[in-house]
Amino acid sequence: MSEIDVVTPFAEAGYQISPDAAEMIASHSSPEALVEHILATIDESVFVIGVEHIDFDGFELNYKPEASARTSDIHPPIAYESHLSGYQTSDNPVEVLFDITDRSTCVGEYMEFTQYFRNRYSKLGEMIRGRINARPIESLTRNRRRVGIRQEGGNRESNEVSVIGMVSDIKTTTNGHKIIELEDPTGSFSVLVRVADKELFEQASSLVLDEVIGATGPLTNDGNLMIVNKITMPELPNGMRRRTGSYGKAVFISDVHIGSSTFLEDAWCDFIDFLKGDVSNEAMRQISKEIRYLVVAGDLVDGIGIFPDQEKELEILDVYEQYRKAAEYFHEIPQHIKVIIGPGNHDAVRLAEPQPRFPDHITADFPGNITFVGNPALVNLDGVKVLMYHGRSIDDFVQSVPGVSYQEPTTAMVEMMKRRHLSPTYGSRVSIAPEKHDHFVIDQVPDILHCGHVHTVGIQKYKNVLLINSGTWQSQTEFQKRVNLVPVPAQVPVVDLSNFKTSLLKFE
Ligand SMILES: [Fe+2]
Ligand SMILES: [Fe+2]
Repeated sequence: MSEIDVVTPFAEAGYQISPDAAEMIASHSSPEALVEHILATIDESVFVIGVEHIDFDGFELNYKPEASARTSDIHPPIAYESHLSGYQTSDNPVEVLFDITDRSTCVGEYMEFTQYFRNRYSKLGEMIRGRINARPIESLTRNRRRVGIRQEGGNRESNEVSVIGMVSDIKTTTNGHKIIELEDPTGSFSVLVRVADKELFEQASSLVLDEVIGATGPLTNDGNLMIVNKITMPELPNGMRRRTGSYGKAVFISDVHIGSSTFLEDAWCDFIDFLKGDVSNEAMRQISKEIRYLVVAGDLVDGIGIFPDQEKELEILDVYEQYRKAAEYFHEIPQHIKVIIGPGNHDAVRLAEPQPRFPDHITADFPGNITFVGNPALVNLDGVKVLMYHGRSIDDFVQSVPGVSYQEPTTAMVEMMKRRHLSPTYGSRVSIAPEKHDHFVIDQVPDILHCGHVHTVGIQKYKNVLLINSGTWQSQTEFQKRVNLVPVPAQVPVVDLSNFKTSLLKFE
């Protein structure tokens, strides 16, 4: 395998590779297998693979010439044969990898906003930087004339420049072109996307405020404007391979809205019976036996004072009573099923996101098999990484990105993954607390992104990440009637953790 041959599979998978690393791989005794090993184990956030990313020890340990290790070998299907003994143990680990709980630094000072947006810029900018050769905006604005002259003289390769900036303004000119204002810590610069450039114009029309992008193109002669010919988003790497896998099943729900008069108690109780294995349908009982995890992405209760006149639509008027009722239901769920619960905008924690987990005086009523997390939260379920986010920002995406709709909620979740950010726009529907770190940045690529909030169901794969929106347990509310939102209640996505195949169970 030559060095050139080594580069190809990495390029196809969306990675660049340094010449040293390519040379080292090419000179190895089993270069093809080593390439495969690196692609299977590389951290998804790496864009340029260097020598330091080649894990020779791990490779030698796992590599067998005939049959290299596969994730499915890690948990042999033996668990299925002995599920009664195997599943109903406490061996369903939950590890909280990341959430805001007990880490909030925000006190509401102006400076915190600057720090917050700088942190966002640096994290997302870094993801783009590996793929374009960007320069600080200051270098364009300070030397406008010089840049113009240099271009006229002709840069040896091309007269293109690249910048990485946060979108601070989007305008449409009288001719229909888009002018996008980009900001980095050194200044701001206008870039233009021509309406005739169809594909690029479509991409530019999907941009939202405060997201971070790379823009590449030539500058006009006066150096005041870039004519964009490429927009680079943080995105997920192509050809990303899932390294993890497990066994058994995980159930994803959200928006239970206990306490609301439109809470579908009968369907909910059927669901609880299903979790207990108390179902007449044999296929359903079989699925039930394999369940190891139940993940709840917010709006556990309906809350109080969330919208005007809410009390007219409440069955339980006291929010703590609503949680006590919720706790009663969760006590019925078998103890071996590990439950993970995060808050939503109807829950009794601060409204500003990221939200911490429920306070102790609420969680005290719930059983011990529940792990309470913040919103968003990244959890590791026995090797499967699940990013939970209630999904308030979906309202923003529906408003500003063409093609994103409430009926197909995963369309918004795709936009999150492209931006590697759960909620880019500040000052719209999502109230964002300016924490020191931007907790909405998708640093680690999850196996599953789980949202709720919009009360419709969606299941979609995007570049090897499974996107799930888990619907609701509430029938149509007065508000939803007014905005013509038709909810999809009592439908439950169930994921097979060994292969991520997802089925939808209905409890209507
Ligand atoms: Fe909800
Ligand atoms: Fe919600």
